[in-house]
Formats: sequence, C-alpha cells, structure tokens
Amino acid sequence: MAAPHPIEKFQQWFAEARAIEPYDPTAMALATASGDGRPAVRMVLLKHADERGFVFYTNLQSPKSIALRANPNASLCFHWPKLERQVRIDGPVVAVDPAEADAYFATRPRLSQLGAWASAQSQPMAGRFELERAVAAAAVRFPIGAVPRPPHWSGWRVEPEAIEFWQARAFRHHDREKITRDRDGWSAKWLFP
Ligand SMILES: Cc1cc2nc3c(=O)[nH]c(=O)nc-3n(C[C@H](O)[C@H](O)[C@H](O)COP(=O)(O)O)c2cc1C
Repeated sequence: MAAPHPIEKFQQWFAEARAIEPYDPTAMALATASGDGRPAVRMVLLKHADERGFVFYTNLQSPKSIALRANPNASLCFHWPKLERQVRIDGPVVAVDPAEADAYFATRPRLSQLGAWASAQSQPMAGRFELERAVAAAAVRFPIGAVPRPPHWSGWRVEPEAIEFWQARAFRHHDREKITRDRDGWSAKWLFP
C-alpha cells in the first residue's frame, strides 16, 4: 500500500470545504494547555498549510501565546458541516519565522494592521472608545507608507504529528482515518467511530 499523504489529503478536503461551506472554512478551534495543564480553546483562522505545518497569527502577549510558550503543544479542530467532516491535528508548535510573518502582515488591510498595533489582546479595556483611541493613535504613528508588523504580533506553526480525518456515514458508522508521523514517516490506521 502506498504511504499516506495526510497533507495532500488535507489540501483536498480543504479545497472541497472552500468550494461548498457557507461560513469561513479556514476557522479552526485551537486548544492549548497552560504550564500547569489547564486547557483553553478558542477559534483562530488558518492562514497557511503545507508540509511544515498549519499557521495562524495572533498577539504574542495573549493568553494563548503565553500558554504556547509554557507548553509548546497544540491541537486544532476543523468542522465542515456541509461536508459532514472533521479534521483534528495535534503536534508541537514553533514560532513562525519573522520574515514570513512580515510578508503575511504586509498583505493585510491597513485597518487590520493598525488594529494589530492597537489591541492589547485579552486585556481588560474601559470601553470601545479605548480601542478606537488606540487605533487612531496607531494611524497617527503610521500616517503614510507601509505599516510595519508590531513586535507583539506574529504567527505560530503547528507541526503535525497526527492528523485525523472524520467523515460522517449513515447510522453513525463513520469513517475515521488517523495518520501519525514517526521517524519512518507517515502511517495510517482506521479507528472505530
Ligand atoms: C471565527 C473566529 C476566528 C478568529 N481568528 C482569530 C485569529 O486568527 N487570531 C486571533 O488572535 N484571534 C482570532 N479570533 C479570536 C479568538 O477566538 C480569541 O478570542 C482571541 O484570540 C483571544 O484568545 P486568548 O485570550 O485565548 O489568547 C477568532 C475568533 C473567531 C470567532
């Protein structure tokens, strides 16, 4: 049997989700655990996926980034309801290279770039005006030309050690293919649903 190619299979499923899902198919749940093992989960957007892993961008001082520095492991979960599919990805995380983060940041709309400067993500704020004032201050700071990437904003890459593809079937006789990586490469097994 040919060796499984989970990244190729992911790209295939992702393309099918992009074609049919009415809501953003790049949305994925990101689970982290703090240094003392407390889990937390929230949605983020997949911005890049290839053999090296699955990339999202965020504030580096946010609770998720603090957790990822203390415990550099993550779990991702996509749900594509129209296709009745779920994909789960587990693995260690590494920081995205600064040049790669700069290149991605440069593609973002200017107001999103200013928002990245303005938002102390997950810190309390007095009200919306505080955010709007911070965005205005960033606009004054960078009135013309390119907005540089803030030092507190970058990406994380989840390097997959296991990818599980779940496809609903009639009567809950679902398909689950779990593809895991070890030193010899990828190997697949089927799991009871
Ligand atoms: C659909 C969706 C996509 C999101 N994408 C991102 C994202 O790509 N990056 C990000 O920092 N927060 C994103 N958020 C907000 C996060 O879910 C979360 O509220 C925020 O990052 C703070 O998380 P933390 O306090 O656990 O660090 C998204 C929220 C939703 C609902």
